[in-house]
Amino acid sequence: MKPLTIGLTYDLRDDYLAQGFSLEETGEFDSSETIDAIENTLGQLGFVTERIGNLSHLIAALQKKKSWDLVFNIAEGMYGFAREAQVPALLDAYRIPYVFSDPLVLALTLDKALTKRIVRDHGIATAPFAVISKLTEIAALDLPYPVFAKPLAEGTGKGINAQSYIESPALLHTTCEALLQQFHQPVLVETFLPGREFTVGMVGTGDSAKVLGVMEICLRANVNTKGCSFIDKENCEERIDYLPVDDAESQQAATTALAAWRALRCQDGGRIDLRSNAEGVPQFLEVNPLAGLHPTHSDLPILAQLNGYSYYDLLGKIMSAALQRLNLREFYAT
Ligand SMILES: Nc1ncnc2c1ncn2[C@@H]1O[C@H](COP(=O)(O)OP(=O)(O)OP(=O)(O)O)[C@@H](O)[C@H]1O
Ligand SMILES: [Mg+2]
Repeated sequence: MKPLTIGLTYDLRDDYLAQGFSLEETGEFDSSETIDAIENTLGQLGFVTERIGNLSHLIAALQKKKSWDLVFNIAEGMYGFAREAQVPALLDAYRIPYVFSDPLVLALTLDKALTKRIVRDHGIATAPFAVISKLTEIAALDLPYPVFAKPLAEGTGKGINAQSYIESPALLHTTCEALLQQFHQPVLVETFLPGREFTVGMVGTGDSAKVLGVMEICLRANVNTKGCSFIDKENCEERIDYLPVDDAESQQAATTALAAWRALRCQDGGRIDLRSNAEGVPQFLEVNPLAGLHPTHSDLPILAQLNGYSYYDLLGKIMSAALQRLNLREFYAT
C-alpha cells in the first residue's frame, strides 16, 4: 500500500527572529529541533513527510496546485485573534484533511475568556473572572482579592510575571495598564488560585478522547512569581519540577480536563492546564489544542515520558486518533 504523504505546517522561530521579531513575540513558534523530531518520528511511523512551512508557504504551495494526503499542522500564526485558525481554515477550503483541531476551536480557544464561558456553561469548574478592556472598568470589578491578571489571548507564559499576582485595585491598575499597552488586547482577571497546578495530556476526539496522563507542575522555591511566567517556561530545566501524579486531586483534574476537551470539541491531541482553588478543587485554566511538541522541552512530550510513553508513542497515538477521526484508519502504517 502506498504510504500517506503528510505535509508539515509550522512557524519556524528562527525565520521570525531573523526578520527582527523579539524572543517573547516569537515565544510560541517552533525550533528546527522540533520540526526535525516530528519529521523523523512520522517517518519512523511509516509516513512520507514533506515540509510546507508557514501560512505564506502554504499559500504559495496551494497556488502551485500542491496537495498532500494529510497535513500535520502546528502553525501558531502571527496576526490576529484567529491566527491559529488560519492554516486549518485554508486547508478546509481546499478540502485537505489535517491533524489537530479545526479553525473554530483554534480561534475560540485563543480567547481564554470566551473559552471559560463555554466551559462554565457545561458545568465545568473554572475560576470566577472578568475581562478588562479599559482601565476605567477596574472600579466595577466584582472579584475578591488576590486576583491574577494575564493577557486574554497569549500563550507560553507571555505577559505573566511577578506583577500578575495582585492584592489591591491600585496594583491591578498598574498591571492592567502595562498589559494593555504591551499586548494591545484585553486583560483576563481571575480569582487567584493558590493550589496545585496540573497539566493533562489528551489524545483523541469526542467519545474516543482519552487522558494520556497528568503531570503536576511545581515552581521551585527560588522562583518568585506566583504562576509560571514566560521566563520560567523558557528556563524550565532550572525553574520547574515536573512530577507524575496519581492521587484523588490529580484524578479530579483528569476528569475535569476530559469534560472540557469534549465540551470544546478539541481534536486528536493537546493539553489542558488546571490549577486548584483554596479548597483543593482543580479549576480549568486554558486548553492548548496546539500543544508544544519539542521532544524534551515541551510539556506534552515530558508528560508522555513521565507516563511511560516515548515521543514515538505520543505521535503514534495522535496520528492514530487523527486517522480514525478522518476514516483513514486503514492507511495507518504501524
Ligand atoms: N487564576 C490563576 N491563579 C493562579 N495562577 C494562575 C492563574 N492563571 C494562570 N496562572 C499561572 O500562570 C500560568 C500561565 O497561565 P495560562 O496557562 O493561562 O497561560 P499560557 O501562557 O497560555 O500558558 P501555556 O504556556 O500553557 O500556553 C499558569 O501555568 C499558572 O502558573
Ligand atoms: Mg498554560
